[in-house]
Amino acid sequence: MSGRLILTLSILGGTGKEGPGLAYRWAQAGYHVVIGSRTPEKAERVAAELNERLERELVVGMGNVEAAEACDIAVLTVPYNAHRDTLEGLKDQLQGKVLVDVTVPLVPPEVSVLKVPPSGSAAQEAQEILGEGVDVVAAFQNVSHVHLLEDHPVPCDVLVCGDHEGAREQVLELVRAARLVGWDAGPLANAIVVEGLTPVLIGINKRHGMKEAGIRITGHPPVEATGPDA
Ligand SMILES: NC(=O)c1ccc[n+]([C@@H]2O[C@H](COP(=O)([O-])OP(=O)(O)OC[C@H]3O[C@@H](n4cnc5c(N)ncnc54)[C@H](OP(=O)(O)O)[C@@H]3O)[C@@H](O)[C@H]2O)c1
Repeated sequence: MSGRLILTLSILGGTGKEGPGLAYRWAQAGYHVVIGSRTPEKAERVAAELNERLERELVVGMGNVEAAEACDIAVLTVPYNAHRDTLEGLKDQLQGKVLVDVTVPLVPPEVSVLKVPPSGSAAQEAQEILGEGVDVVAAFQNVSHVHLLEDHPVPCDVLVCGDHEGAREQVLELVRAARLVGWDAGPLANAIVVEGLTPVLIGINKRHGMKEAGIRITGHPPVEATGPDA
């Protein structure tokens, strides 16, 4: 982690649907935010659109390699079929950093059916590809982009999985900064449960004519205990 006062978050593949929503909320919270893309001009265009919405110049766009190099914490928002190639191409730039993996291992056209990757989950696959020099944390897979570019409270909690408690804590801080409720969901081996909820939510959306189904943890921890990261 850098000693800089304000951290830089790079959203790799941040030009689609989920990435700009997360970028919008983190820029509002005061982070330096970089949108990454295979095409720098596309990233710059999305950054400009976000800045217009934010009414300030808070977000910049870059190629994915430069974005991964520039950040303190990286966030990956690409479709599963681009997951491995994207990570292999950014392995060097990500060493020593936390990677927040938002990827859900969906295999179109059956996006409402769980497909378990060979490593157990996309996040575990990311950890295998990147090696021990990167702390992979799985988070945000259940939050529909439909909510993120709006300013209303998001009715969906975030389950955070990773093998390093410190990295999970950092990501729980990012969840709070995005004005969401986060829960420490334990080691990376649990990520398949979190990733696996997304096709269930997509199926519920389809069957019930919705766009934004989410999950929420019920119950309240005792006051002195570690509570939800709200
Ligand atoms: N959308 C949601 O509501 C939502 C919610 C929770 C989790 N997720 C998960 O988050 C991830 C991103 O979702 P999304 O809806 O934002 O995806 P998306 O809009 O389909 O794609 C995001 C970006 O990924 C890059 N990309 C696409 N194909 C690629 C390829 N073959 N190689 C390299 N990069 C490629 C593109 O960026 P460039 O062309 O600029 O490089 C694209 O703008 C997915 O794994 C999804 O399952 C999505």
